[in-house]
Parts: sequence; C-alpha cells; structure tokens
Amino acid sequence: MSAKPGRLLPLLTTHRTGRSPVTCEYRCGNQCSHPAPNTSDNEYFGDVVRSVMSRRGALRAGGVMAATAAGFAAMSGTAAAEVPALAANPGRGNGRQGGRSVPGTDFEPVAPNSRDAVTVPEGYEQQVVIRWGDPVVPGAPAFDVNGQTAAAQAKQFGYNNDFVGLIPQDGSGRRNFLVVNHEYTTETEMFPEGSYDEANPTEEQVRIAWAAHGLSVVQADRTRDGGLEVKPSRYNRRITLDTEFEVRGPVAGSDLLKTSADPTGTIVHGTQNNCAGGVTPWGTVLSGEENFHQYFAHGERVTDPVQAERLDRYGLAGGETTRKWERFDKRWDISQEPNEVHRFGWVVEIDPNDPNAKPIKHTALGRFKHEAANVKIARDGRVVVYSGDDERFDYIYKFVSNGRYKPGRSAHARRHNMALLDEGTLYVAKFTGNSPAEEIDGSGTLPSDGEFDGTGEWIALASGDKSFVDGFTAEEVYVFTRLAADKVGATKMDRPEDIEPNPVTGRIYAALTNNSDRGAAGKAGADEPNPRNGNKNGHVLEWDEDGTETKFRWRLLLVCGDPDAADTYFGGFDKSQVSPISCPDNVAFDGYGNLWISTDGNALGSNDGLFSVPVTGPNRGQVKQFLTVPVGAETCGPVVRDDLVLVAVQHPGEGGEPGSSWPDGGHARPAIVAVRKSDGGRIGA
Ligand code: FEO
Ligand code: CA
Ligand code: CA
Repeated sequence: MSAKPGRLLPLLTTHRTGRSPVTCEYRCGNQCSHPAPNTSDNEYFGDVVRSVMSRRGALRAGGVMAATAAGFAAMSGTAAAEVPALAANPGRGNGRQGGRSVPGTDFEPVAPNSRDAVTVPEGYEQQVVIRWGDPVVPGAPAFDVNGQTAAAQAKQFGYNNDFVGLIPQDGSGRRNFLVVNHEYTTETEMFPEGSYDEANPTEEQVRIAWAAHGLSVVQADRTRDGGLEVKPSRYNRRITLDTEFEVRGPVAGSDLLKTSADPTGTIVHGTQNNCAGGVTPWGTVLSGEENFHQYFAHGERVTDPVQAERLDRYGLAGGETTRKWERFDKRWDISQEPNEVHRFGWVVEIDPNDPNAKPIKHTALGRFKHEAANVKIARDGRVVVYSGDDERFDYIYKFVSNGRYKPGRSAHARRHNMALLDEGTLYVAKFTGNSPAEEIDGSGTLPSDGEFDGTGEWIALASGDKSFVDGFTAEEVYVFTRLAADKVGATKMDRPEDIEPNPVTGRIYAALTNNSDRGAAGKAGADEPNPRNGNKNGHVLEWDEDGTETKFRWRLLLVCGDPDAADTYFGGFDKSQVSPISCPDNVAFDGYGNLWISTDGNALGSNDGLFSVPVTGPNRGQVKQFLTVPVGAETCGPVVRDDLVLVAVQHPGEGGEPGSSWPDGGHARPAIVAVRKSDGGRIGA
C-alpha cells in the first residue's frame, strides 16, 4: 500500500512561464513573447461568416465573444445527436481518501523540489544511459567540452534530448533500439563560458550546432541487473542537419519545395527542432519538426503579400536569427532561398532497423509546428496519426490512411506501412462544449453538469490532390496547413502538445500545456475545451474514437495546477490526495493503461517531473509524482515499461544561476536516465 501523496514543500509563487529566458530564446525563438500568430477569426462561427470576411478579417474580440454564446447553443443541439455514444464509461474518481493505489502507480510519490538532481521514489534506482557528447558511431572521440568540433559532434550523441523511443529488436526484450530526438542547441550553454559570442559565432561553432541537432539511433541492451546499456552496433547512427531526407506524399516535387540546391523538391538536408514523436506499430519512429521558424532569417525582406501572410502565420519574426546560421549557409535566409522554410515543419520517419534507410518527410500529415505524431490502428486496419500544433491558439490534427496496416516488422511490412502515410485524408479538430456558454466563465469553475466535456468533429482539409478548403489547392493545404485550418473554423487550443492513444482502452489523450494569452484583450476567451483564461498550468483532454470517425465525444481529464486552488480538477479524485502538476507536455502509457505525463515549465515553483495517473476506475485522476528532474531542466520522452522507466533530461540548469552541474559535476549535459526498482520488480507494483 502506498502512502498518501505528500505535500512536503510549500508551493512557490507562480510565473508567467516557468522557463528561463535562455530556454525561451533558443528552444522556440521566444514565441511566447511574440504575438500569437493565429490572428484568424474562426471561433465557432467560421463556416457562417467566412464568406464575408477577409483572410485577415476585421472582426475582433467583441464580435467573437457575442457569437460564441450563440454558436454553442446551436452546436450542442445538432452535433450531439449525431455523435456515437461513449465506448465505455471511464469512471470518475470517487474521491476516496488513502485507498490502495492501482497497479503501476503504487509508489511513494516524490515531493516537489528544486534540487540539481533526478529524484526518484524510495526503493528505486537511476542510471544515466547516454549523455550529450557520448560516442554513438565508430571513431567518435571522447567528449571534450573545451575542444569540441563539428566532426566529433557528428559522431556523438546530440544536444537537448527530447523524444525517446525504445524499440525491441526481438521477442526477448533484451536488445533494443534507442531512438532520441535532439530538439535544439543552446550555444551559450554548450560552449565553455566566454568562448561563444552570440553576435559573432564562428563557422565551426555553427557547424557543431548543425551536428548536434537531429536524432541518434543506438543499440541499447538490458543489463543483468535490469538497467540499460548502450552498445557499439552496426545500427548506431547519427542524423544531423547534413543527413539527406526523402520528401514523400502529396507535395513531393512541388514547386513550393524547390530550391537552388534541390531543383527536384524531393531531397532535404536534415531535420530540426524535433520535439516529441512516436513509435509506430511497424517499429519505426515518427518525429515532429516543431519550432522550425526560428532558424530562418530575413522574412521581413519579403514584399509579396501572400508570402508575407504565410510567413506571419508560422511566426517568422524577421531580422537575423538568434544563431546567425544564415551567415554560413544561404538556405537559412528567406530572402535568398524563399522555399527552404517550406521544407521544415513536417513529421519525419526514421527506420532504426535499417541503418542505411533514408529518413522520410511525410507531407500528407501537413506542415505546422508538430509536437509529435502517434499512431492508432483503426478496427478496419487504416492507420490514424494524431499530431498537435504547439503554439498558443493552434490546432489538433489527424491523418487517416487510405490503405490498411500490414502487421509485423519485416522489411516488407515496414515498407508497406511507411507508404500508408503518403496517401490519406488530413483533418483538423473542432471541439464544442455541452454546457451553457455562460457557465464557462474563464475561472476554471466546473459547469453545472460537473465536467468540461462535449462533442467534437474532424473537418477534412485535403486528401491526395483534392482540397476541401475554399480558395486553397491541395498543395497549399499541405504546405500552409495552419491557414487552411483557420478557414474551416478549427478550435483554437491552449498549445496542443503530445497526443497518444491509450493502448488498453483505445481512448486518445492530448496534453494542452498552457496559454497565458487565453482571454487577453483581442484574443479568444475561455471555452469548454480550454476553460481558463490566462491558463498557466495547462490541462489534459481525452476523447473516444476508433480513429476513422468524423464525430466524437471529449472531456477534460485534468485541469492542472495546485490542487488547493479552486481552478483545478483531477478527474473527480479527491484533490487532497494528489500531487501538484503543471504544464503537461509529453504523454505515455504503461502496460496497465495508466497515463504518464511529463511536464515542461512548471509554473508552481518546483522542478519539472514525471507523473502517473489512472484514467479508469475509482482512482481516475489520482496524479502521483514519480520523479523530478534537475533544476532548470524539462522532463521529456517518457517511456514506461513493466520494469523500466526512461526520461530525457533536457536543458539542465539552462539560463539559471548558478545553473546545473548534472549529471557528472562540471559542465551540465542533457542525458537519458533509466529508472528501475531496486528489487528488480515491476514499476509501481
Ligand atoms: Fe518542444 Fe512543444 O515542446
Ligand atoms: Ca459540460
Ligand atoms: Ca514537448
């Protein structure tokens, strides 16, 4: 029996965001400090008034709010009648105090803290599996922070690990591929103090950063004591900004993707800002190119109004970039290579089973700031891919393949299944609440029906060469997906992050990390799927669908924050018995179907962490903190196996004083950590 979740430290004061200014600058180009690029007026009534609005229409907040109330009433009457019933009652937390934890979550929760360490529950052990600079491919030199070179970095583990995929190589579970995203570089942290001039980086420093982006694939075998060990292997490879990718799907070869270096529009060098991702049922990895906008300079020199509007909608700020890469390769300068920016913002696929396989950019999944991509196989065998666009007021998408999944991981099955992602239909989500609009007042107070819930609709955007959006060719839908989604009245969400189907229940879960601008002057106000104005702590949304339907029902599982605060909701569970949680980011599931959530930017004053939460039965909503990461770090890439948990510790100490010396003392290094039970037993049991 587990003890009650503790509240050992007082909650500290909240901040606008929990991140340091350095992290904001280098991770996403300070996008939260810029106006949110979704200025569309598509709230609820988009279909009705679209024909009388200009693309940058003049309707503003007052009109939006008035129309919202009327729109809710209309939608809740019609859509609900057409929506299939819930697959099963998920149960609501019954508020029991102290009862037994459900299997998978029976551990002593870690208290909020601000240590420069990974803190795990009593009875658990941790181990660093691989860290920035460790050897990946043969000939990689030992890491030397004072003598780093681009050639060395291209053979070593990259910087700022985010997504982690652990893919069994065989049925034994001993041999695995470990696939890791390297989201971004923070040059001011990577290079020894005083050696990096932000205004004038050297070419070698820039090339080191190119090599530190991308992904790593390594063989990682279970050790006799239950840990995980990286092995030399023919499968080990680095993917960097120099690696060739094949563009596939409906816009491969499009004029919009042609550059002077690639007149075919089919080959792109590299992938960048790979945030979260997913392991496919056929044993590959999907990875989202997220904040690609920050790497492209001089959008302000674009005079064509159509091109300028497209750049604005993707948040390209103009001027020089933070990293100044445009000085060393003109592809990062929009005024010289206007189409290079169209070659990023995709979901990419890596096949770790074949070290020579060329990675793929899948254009059928649309172009936006993909947080991740996760697959569900529908009952009829079609492949469904969910992906969130991580920006304030942006959208949730899914792709449904035309063809059907071929089970297995053979080379033949992999080839077949990877090709499924080239042909299908791309949809964007519209969420409608079922409570009266006046009961959603932005405070987070539950409406009188006791839940933030309602119905949803998937709106088709394009399929192959067919567009379903007025005024857009299919090619334009795929390359400028945000603008197409604006036109069809998609629901503006509070930064959609990771989205993943529960392998036990089939239900889909999405993390909405935060949105400090919700309800601000001129911005969309609270609605039932995003019920708090000035949302600092985020929420978690769940919905029921097999995958191929266009109608569904949804509800909020968690409205995150301090459980003592009136604006939080933990699935109906007794809030005195849960761990505080803020800024949900990545999601994963254990073998029991419990949801695990990692956080980014904790606005409650504690370090970020990893949390478990049952989603069915009387313990639904019982959030428990499993670990915390070092000061300044973000918890990424959770993998939860029966007897092993993996997390990526990203940007330890970044931008803070005195910073971090994790994990080895001295220069801080992002790293992957494995956690296991000291007695070798099952996690949380
Ligand atoms: Fe890279 Fe949406 O976090
Ligand atoms: Ca409701
Ligand atoms: Ca993330």
